[in-house]
Amino acid sequence: MNAGIIELSYIFAAILFIYGLKMMSSPATARKGNFISFLGMLIAIVATFLYLPELAQTKLKNASNLHYDWIAYGMIAGTVIGVLAARLVGMTSMPEMVALLNGFGGISSLFVGWAVFQFDLIASKPDSVNTLTLITIFLSVLIGGVTFSGSLIAWAKLKEIIGGKPVSFPGQHIFNILLVVGAGTCATMIIQNPAGEMTLQLFLGAIGISVLLGIFAVIPIGGADMPVVISLMNSYSGLAACAAGFVVKNNILIVSGALVGASGVILTVIMCKAMNRSLSNVLFSGFGGASSGGKAVEGEAKPSSAQDAFYVLESASSVVFVPGYGLAVAQAQHVARELGELLEENGAEVSYAIHPVAGRMPGHMNVLLAEANVSYDQLIEMDDINPNIENVDVAIVVGANDVVNPAARDDETSPIYGMPIIDVDKARTVYVLKRGMGMGFAGIQNPLFFKENTRMIFGDAKGTLQSLVDEFKN
Ligand code: TAP
Repeated sequence: MNAGIIELSYIFAAILFIYGLKMMSSPATARKGNFISFLGMLIAIVATFLYLPELAQTKLKNASNLHYDWIAYGMIAGTVIGVLAARLVGMTSMPEMVALLNGFGGISSLFVGWAVFQFDLIASKPDSVNTLTLITIFLSVLIGGVTFSGSLIAWAKLKEIIGGKPVSFPGQHIFNILLVVGAGTCATMIIQNPAGEMTLQLFLGAIGISVLLGIFAVIPIGGADMPVVISLMNSYSGLAACAAGFVVKNNILIVSGALVGASGVILTVIMCKAMNRSLSNVLFSGFGGASSGGKAVEGEAKPSSAQDAFYVLESASSVVFVPGYGLAVAQAQHVARELGELLEENGAEVSYAIHPVAGRMPGHMNVLLAEANVSYDQLIEMDDINPNIENVDVAIVVGANDVVNPAARDDETSPIYGMPIIDVDKARTVYVLKRGMGMGFAGIQNPLFFKENTRMIFGDAKGTLQSLVDEFKN
């Protein structure tokens, strides 16, 4: 197949990836963006298939060494697992699934680097090997190994297979630095003497060290920060893929790896900003380990009922829903939309305030509300809702806690002080829908629940919203 056509296909696929990514930045175009990226990937896969015979001649020395049947088995297994996961994994388990996908991305790059190393170095026993190729092999293997084990630890923490609390020991950071030095030393020794007796052992040692590094870099980070870690691992998996692209000299792998790497970093920075924390604070502070901190909250929470809330809502002319992680747990998005429609029929202006880190993954609330067909122009970003929140008659907080905690704004001793919040406490009346007085992800008390204008409606958010819908219908 003409190499020019294959490269042109890769460029076209890369343009589709970039265009698709751009469209994914808005809920209104995200689905289309996803489809366009899918088309890009399809073109890249077909072009790669056409390139395989040439690769077999140059790399495998003989086209008969190319096993299409193995590739087919891999693709069938991957497709079945992918389709089942997409259908069966619940929306609340998406962060865990993304963690696993990142881990798989990392181990794939590790295997690509390892395969080329085995083929070009161990099997062929050359006296000299291109140093640049060796460096890219090491990058794909080392970053891939860290991504694999780090992502598995993040997955296990989110799944609560291992505790979410930070696990640290004295000298942990020094230990991690020693691991980096160890991996670097193995790599340097191989680069200096590629045909040496110990080459394979050193290489396997470097792989082992990278896997250990992934484990020891993630265990000291608290469960609450796992979404940031997952975003960072996403970026690492892209960098590993990019390095693997250099190893096998495949342009589309280099470009798509770089895109994943860059977008992962951007997302990580956005998440840190939304929590008013630096990346180093997330990675090294062990947030979530110590007991809560912050001023003691005084006063009493005032319980209320759906029936009482109905009377207030019936006469409200503006209502803002503020969804949080509890909305996802309760799967209350459909009934929230139904209540919103009933309020609108009743003459109220209804909107949905979106905090950038509400829930457990970026865009979590947008995805849930889009699934329930809430109109995009009713979704209002935190920075746009806050200046007008004093004019809101009723704020209905549906399973949100940390993202509406006024301590982040008012209490300098609070661990989340400085994190931007949705100022629901400034609305005329606030109804908080949650099961009990449970804390949010940050594990701290919320003074909002004790304010004069706040009423608590205890129970599963879906059930409470359904009771409100029933009140309106009757
Ligand atoms: P959280 O602060 O975690 O609070 C969720 C609340 O939902 C809990 O207090 C819980 O109280 C309630 N809840 C759970 N199940 C419920 C149900 N079935 N019905 C009603 N309520 C239910 O959530 P948030 O306000 O969305 O804040 C997100 C947190 O995650 C922040 O701390 C944020 O920094 C962190 N985080 C998020 C991200 C991203 S990207 N989203 C990234 C990193 C960190 P009860 O147990 O009393 O019901």
